[in-house]
Amino acid sequence: MPFNLENRFDSVEMSDVAQLRELQLDRMRWSLTHAYNNVPFYRKSFDDAGVHPYDLRSLDDLRHFPFTVKNDLRDNYPFGMVAVPMRDVVRVHASSGTTGKPTVVAYTQNDIDVWSDVMARSIRAGGGHAGDKVHVAYGYGLFTGGLGAHYGAERLGCTVIPMSGGQTEKQVQLINDFKPDIIMVTPSYMLNIADEMERQGLDPKASSLRVGIFGAEPWTQTMREELEARLGIHALDIYGLSEVMGPGVGMECIETKDGPTIWEDHFYPEIINPETGEVLPDGEYGELVFTSLSKEALPIIRYRTRDLTRLLPGQARPMRRIDKITGRSDDMLIIRGVNVFPTQVEEQILKIEALAPHYEIHVEKEGNLDHVTVRVELKPEAAPQAETLSVEVVKELQHRVKTHIGISTRVDLAAPGTLARSEGKAKHVFDNRPK
Ligand code: DLL
Repeated sequence: MPFNLENRFDSVEMSDVAQLRELQLDRMRWSLTHAYNNVPFYRKSFDDAGVHPYDLRSLDDLRHFPFTVKNDLRDNYPFGMVAVPMRDVVRVHASSGTTGKPTVVAYTQNDIDVWSDVMARSIRAGGGHAGDKVHVAYGYGLFTGGLGAHYGAERLGCTVIPMSGGQTEKQVQLINDFKPDIIMVTPSYMLNIADEMERQGLDPKASSLRVGIFGAEPWTQTMREELEARLGIHALDIYGLSEVMGPGVGMECIETKDGPTIWEDHFYPEIINPETGEVLPDGEYGELVFTSLSKEALPIIRYRTRDLTRLLPGQARPMRRIDKITGRSDDMLIIRGVNVFPTQVEEQILKIEALAPHYEIHVEKEGNLDHVTVRVELKPEAAPQAETLSVEVVKELQHRVKTHIGISTRVDLAAPGTLARSEGKAKHVFDNRPK
């Protein structure tokens, strides 16, 4: 269905839930069959599990199909998961991951069109419209962020400023001179850009920006408040991952700001218990799993994202939402038996007036015990009173972390501007314990 520039919504955004489920079932049958017939990996994994695409009689039957994990993509590196002849693949992207081979994903022209449509829909759900200028500071290249945002903004009829990540001074100069309405960037890099605006003597609130479309890493509700207050914008959450498409799998609607709406006409979500693989009812927390419903080049069946969240009923749209991602199960630290996510620490830091949202969590093993040090910067305006403030601020953060998260920490206050800054996805955790 071509993206409609005149209307405010795609027709599926106005359909009712029953119509949506019908569409999903049709598309899911197609997607399972396409994967089974064209990707040896899926044929084998379905056969091993004793299931066939014909066995899908209702959406609920999806639970009988096997999961796909990141290593399955790595094992089939580079193009073993591709379900169409390579001449039909018009683009590849790849994510580096922390170890070994990258994960490669592929798109047909039709896939790029669908992606552009859901990205255009996402920007529009964030309050964007044709004629807006969109500054894209997600990285361009193998990462899906830059080009994904770019094609969506063009599709919506916006003027794109393809700045990519990095060159922070220039980011500020272009925002100041070109006067974009919307910025698309990771929330941590946005903070970095806001700091640079101040360094150049500009008031971040006085910029032309109206909306920030932030994603690619976990960020909290308190960070939203911080970004909105500091920049005088609407800060909205966009979700996605390369294996499923890229940015635009889900997007928060500006009218409700209540977690990304999953564009369920193309991406079918489930929440599972990460230990048992059992499907959990909507509303319960667990691991997010996706099945693509229309992707041609790289159909993905029950992909385990490792992202922890829950499914919530549709609010601004008939499609379901996800709650803000707490973190990836890979980023969860286990500190003396307590599960800790960096976002929980971020939440507490941002509650303290004198602290800036720039932080690092360092974990060491001393003897048999885990020790956590939170390094966090003072806000520039608090720095002159550092001597009088520091004892109190350190105590308050330690107390908050102990009561809300349940672990003891050391706190090191750092001078403004001294911790490493992100130009894309921030690295908050430094786990130095022996593996
Ligand atoms: O980060 C795609 C993207 C680009 C999304 C720009 C949004 C904006 P990957 O590099 O494959 O793709 O990383 C995907 O990033 O599994 C999550 O762990 C995390 N992530 C993405 N969006 C969010 C978000 C892109 N809004 C991984 N909140 C995902 C929390 C997010 N985590």
